[in-house]
Amino acid sequence: MEFGDVLRRRKMVRTFESGQVDPSIVERILRHGQRAPSAGYSQGFEFLLLEGPDQTARFWEAATADEPVLQGVRAAPIIVIPFASKDVYLDRYAEEDKKWEDRDESRWPVPYWYIDAAFASMLILLSAVNEGLGALFFGLHPPTIPRVKETFGVPDGWDPIGAIAIGHPSGEDPVRSSAHTRRRKQFQEVVHRGHW
Ligand SMILES: Cc1cc2nc3c(=O)[nH]c(=O)nc-3n(C[C@H](O)[C@H](O)[C@H](O)COP(=O)(O)O)c2cc1C
Repeated sequence: MEFGDVLRRRKMVRTFESGQVDPSIVERILRHGQRAPSAGYSQGFEFLLLEGPDQTARFWEAATADEPVLQGVRAAPIIVIPFASKDVYLDRYAEEDKKWEDRDESRWPVPYWYIDAAFASMLILLSAVNEGLGALFFGLHPPTIPRVKETFGVPDGWDPIGAIAIGHPSGEDPVRSSAHTRRRKQFQEVVHRGHW
């Protein structure tokens, strides 16, 4: 698929078919995710891959809070949870070539550990579209995060930045999301040429 087409077609999908995705396609998508840039090449992001109804059901059991989860999202056969580790970055930047031995977090203009995991997530979303699949990035409810981590044996120091559901999109996606109720900003509102 042309890169521009992939970009334009990328829309969050909230209604999936339950049919499995070829494991080689899943691996390709994750390998693309791994190609994300990272500050200092720290690579402080890793993915938890949940495949098939048993693993995804355990995820939903752990992740679901008061808000009901859309059935169409639950049907997705693949869930990828991108995790970020702040310590990986603090350790990397304390090395000889960076010299931030004090590990002072005020040195960081923004938390690059979350930025890089988000870059990787975007590559995953685009790669899913490129494979003819659909994907949804969604947030995890903070009170459920310890339960999700415990369920899947995630070590301390690794924070999920959200989760990505992947699968074959259903022909019909009846879910009305913010993208339906809000308009995309005008290009001129977003780009400030030469001066804000
Ligand atoms: C950081 C982030 C968190 C999001 N969380 C959710 C979520 O919890 N549930 C959901 O349905 N969509 C979620 N979305 C999807 C947005 O609603 C969606 O990207 C936006 O409405 C624009 O639509 P589009 O991505 O289809 O173009 C999230 C998107 C981002 C980037």
